[in-house]
Amino acid sequence: MSKPPIFTSDIPLFPILIAPHARLKAKARAVAKGDDDDVRAIIPRMFATMYTAPGIGLAAPQVDLGLRLLVIDLMPHDKPAPIVMINPEIVAASPELATREEGCLSLPGMYADVTRPARVKVRYLDESGARREMETSELLSACVQHEIDHLDGVLFVDRISILKRNMIMRKLAKEQKLKK
Ligand code: NI
Repeated sequence: MSKPPIFTSDIPLFPILIAPHARLKAKARAVAKGDDDDVRAIIPRMFATMYTAPGIGLAAPQVDLGLRLLVIDLMPHDKPAPIVMINPEIVAASPELATREEGCLSLPGMYADVTRPARVKVRYLDESGARREMETSELLSACVQHEIDHLDGVLFVDRISILKRNMIMRKLAKEQKLKK
């Protein structure tokens, strides 16, 4: 995946918190009117951090900002399609479930099958503060649900069996130790 040209390399990147980290387990607070300037500055840095990682989604708590803010870009057809969601809320979920392999920039190199509602409708504010609603399915649906989970201090490993979770956390701890 090539880096989209709209994001130049001189944007300072955020360090990404790696699990287990206490602040990845915290519930983020809603973005308020007074946060406008901060949010405007944060969004390009979050995109730059996500594209550089590279990843397809990043939630503010992953870069140690306890705000209900997330960015997504699935890069359909290898072209940038950035999505910003401020104070997102799932307002409807399909009864059918879908299972998909998920990974996370806060659990680098770790993957597991996660089962979630196949489709969700999400209500949020976009980067200009406009109220929006989006119907999501397939990869986008899983990604939106995964990122909203981050805002509530939930990681994808919290949605799999304890056995698999422990296995992943042990493996991650070992690999992070080797990196140091
Ligand atoms: Ni994640």
